[in-house]
Amino acid sequence: MSELAAPPPHADADLALAWQALCAARDHPWTAQPRLVINRDDATLTLDRGGHWHAEPPLTQAAGDLLGGLMPLVCDAGPRVVAQLGQSLDGRIATHSGHSHYVNGLDSRVHLHRLRALVDAVLVGAGTADEDDPQLSVRHVEGRQPLRVVLDPRGRVPVARRVFQDPTLPTLHLLGEGVAAPEGVGAHVTRCWLTQDAAGRVAPQAVIEALQKAGCRRVLVEGGGQTVSQFIAAGCVDRLHLLVAPLLIGSGRPGLVLPVIDTLDQALRPVARRFDCGDDTLFDLSLRLASG
Ligand SMILES: NC(=O)c1ccc[n+]([C@@H]2O[C@H](COP(=O)([O-])OP(=O)(O)OC[C@H]3O[C@@H](n4cnc5c(N)ncnc54)[C@H](OP(=O)(O)O)[C@@H]3O)[C@@H](O)[C@H]2O)c1
Repeated sequence: MSELAAPPPHADADLALAWQALCAARDHPWTAQPRLVINRDDATLTLDRGGHWHAEPPLTQAAGDLLGGLMPLVCDAGPRVVAQLGQSLDGRIATHSGHSHYVNGLDSRVHLHRLRALVDAVLVGAGTADEDDPQLSVRHVEGRQPLRVVLDPRGRVPVARRVFQDPTLPTLHLLGEGVAAPEGVGAHVTRCWLTQDAAGRVAPQAVIEALQKAGCRRVLVEGGGQTVSQFIAAGCVDRLHLLVAPLLIGSGRPGLVLPVIDTLDQALRPVARRFDCGDDTLFDLSLRLASG
């Protein structure tokens, strides 16, 4: 790296300040206190309930991008449901066999852990819980751990999966009505039974309501493609973070698959913002505004 391109000496401290502010904003009582001020010895960062921020002296570009990208999630009018998908340029999230480690680069994985730390619950579909065996914890950054939620109406995710065996974080197992609770899971696992339609589908709205009843104000729908697609099709996602990697898989599991439309005026045209995320590009899509 040339001397000119070297990051300024306070780059890490600025990033740390921005992240500290986002974590504080996550639970800040915006209505009672419309401003949040974070002080460091040599800097003051002020956030407001509308999602704006001001730093004195100015922060590095990277710290500003971190605030710009994530502040909309934690401000007063921020979304209740955020979804994410990491995909290739051709819209795939895994190979045909389900191999997905890793579609995205390290910066995107850090971004995913930041998202997990800024919500109350992280939800995955049965396919992801089974095939990826994810921990769904926050490890790449400092931050609060979310409730892990597995949407598994048929109760088919093997009990050996980490969400059911690792007792360090709570897990909520969402089952279909009448489905027996699997035996052999840890005491950290609680269950909730949801009504299914004739095709065995649970309405995404019912999932969100169950999570809100469980005290989860902000939810991250983390994958896979089928689950995120259903939540978007049902109008339940306020904001979508698409992390696009410069990779062509050419076949395999699709990311978004939405109901068929005939003409492009029926397509979703979300308000979009774009950020560099290492070699990947983060598209921050505001779906709530798009659908009115
Ligand atoms: N790149 C990424 O960001 C990312 C993120 C997560 C996962 N992945 C990859 O994605 C793949 C898995 O994704 P996927 O799309 O195949 O599966 P998925 O979305 O993880 O799980 C789909 C399954 O979840 C259950 N489900 C979801 N919504 C439901 C609803 N509304 N009602 C009833 N059941 C519902 C169903 O279970 P049943 O099948 O039991 O009916 C459904 O088949 C894996 O290969 C994983 O590696 C990639």
